[in-house]
Amino acid sequence: MIRGLRLIAALAAAGLLGAAAVVTFGLYNVSAQVGHWPGVSWVLHETFRNSVRLRAPAPAEVPDLSDPALVRLGERHYASACSPCHAAPGVERTATMRAMVPQPPHLADAVEQWAPEELHWIIQNGIKMSGMPAWPARHRGDEVWAVVAYLVAVRQGRAPPAAKEDGCGGCHGTVARHVPRLDIHTEAYLAKALRDFIAGTRASGIMQQAVSGMTPEEADEIAGRLAASPVVPGGAAASAPAEGEALARRGTGDVPACAACHGPGASRARPGTPALAGQGRAYLAAQLRLWRAGHRGGSEVMAAAARRLTDDQIDALAAWYAALPPAKGPG
Ligand code: HEC
Ligand code: HEC
Ligand code: HEC
Repeated sequence: MIRGLRLIAALAAAGLLGAAAVVTFGLYNVSAQVGHWPGVSWVLHETFRNSVRLRAPAPAEVPDLSDPALVRLGERHYASACSPCHAAPGVERTATMRAMVPQPPHLADAVEQWAPEELHWIIQNGIKMSGMPAWPARHRGDEVWAVVAYLVAVRQGRAPPAAKEDGCGGCHGTVARHVPRLDIHTEAYLAKALRDFIAGTRASGIMQQAVSGMTPEEADEIAGRLAASPVVPGGAAASAPAEGEALARRGTGDVPACAACHGPGASRARPGTPALAGQGRAYLAAQLRLWRAGHRGGSEVMAAAARRLTDDQIDALAAWYAALPPAKGPG
């Protein structure tokens, strides 16, 4: 018994010494030319597959992925953030990407073997030690569904061709619903929003990618240009629900009156308070949920205003503001 234990201890010590030698003397070849030892790739891939299966969200959490606006938003983000490694439908990966170990699979192969909730987990978390990056904004799993919607559309052969318009206009003013309109915003608000994305104090994997490389001074300049363009009329929904109006104008014991800062009508807004009238309904509701959960930085005032909102109140407020005629301002 004692001898057995001694033997195990001796073997463990030898193993540790061996491992220390590999680390200290550089015995393990890190060259990506050689690939992994036989069997290691299989072990790593099985570990990866089972790890994703265990942790992916429940299939019931998957939203409606057939929404064309969601697919288009995903396509725009994919073109900028993912296609450098995974290429695009009908396009091959560069020779350099094919030389990576492990190789980033071509988009068409990457979508083949995973369920939508598994794709969501992979894109949000990335894959350690493989070159597959995590989503840049930690608590923005809501945004990841746009990319999943695009990947599922690719698998089902109904992905739209790449959008012609590149840059900001490829999403803003083109993609409805999930992307905010910018024409109603003032220069001060636009500049603050862009600076917040650059600094990472407002988390969005999509917008943080879009402002990569932008300096704060360039952000101010872009804000000035965007704010100079007039409001595009229309876009407002047909009916404005009364519950939303009562809450926005008067508030409750728990919720401040939104109109006091956001309008419509005379507001005491400080510069940098965004206009909500005519803004997209899905976007407004999503932002209010982010504040309630503590994941949209940028304003203590708004975090406090949204803290006690119920889901029904959020939907009513978003529906009411979205139905108002769009106007610049309020501050
Ligand atoms: C820097 C290169 C790089 C970028 C950028 C990148 N990936 Fe990957 N991705 C990889 C690599 C490498 C793997 C393979 C990992 C493995 O097999 O262990 C991978 C794996 C995946 C997989 C799993 C496929 C499979 O079966 O192995 C999916 C899905 C995926 N990536 C989607 C995306 C999406 C969507 C984006 C953009 C948001 C993205 N990737 C950005 C390198 C990248
Ligand atoms: C891939 C699509 C995409 C591209 C490209 C893009 N945006 Fe965005 N933008 C979004 C989305 C989605 C949001 C909402 C982010 C969130 O959920 O916080 C957003 C939010 C914003 C906001 C905040 C608006 C508000 O009401 O708070 C501003 C300002 C903005 N974008 C400006 C720009 C500018 C300037 C560019 C070009 C440099 C650009 N965007 C490129 C998708 C995009
Ligand atoms: C004391 C003033 C104040 C009150 C009251 C207030 N807000 Fe805000 N709100 C702000 C400010 C300031 C911002 C800009 C925050 C930032 O991005 O830094 C903002 C941002 C927003 C945004 C984001 C808009 C966009 O384009 O991204 C929404 C949505 C919003 N508020 C809705 C509401 C609703 C609904 C209420 C009422 C329940 C409310 N606010 C009450 C000051 C206020």
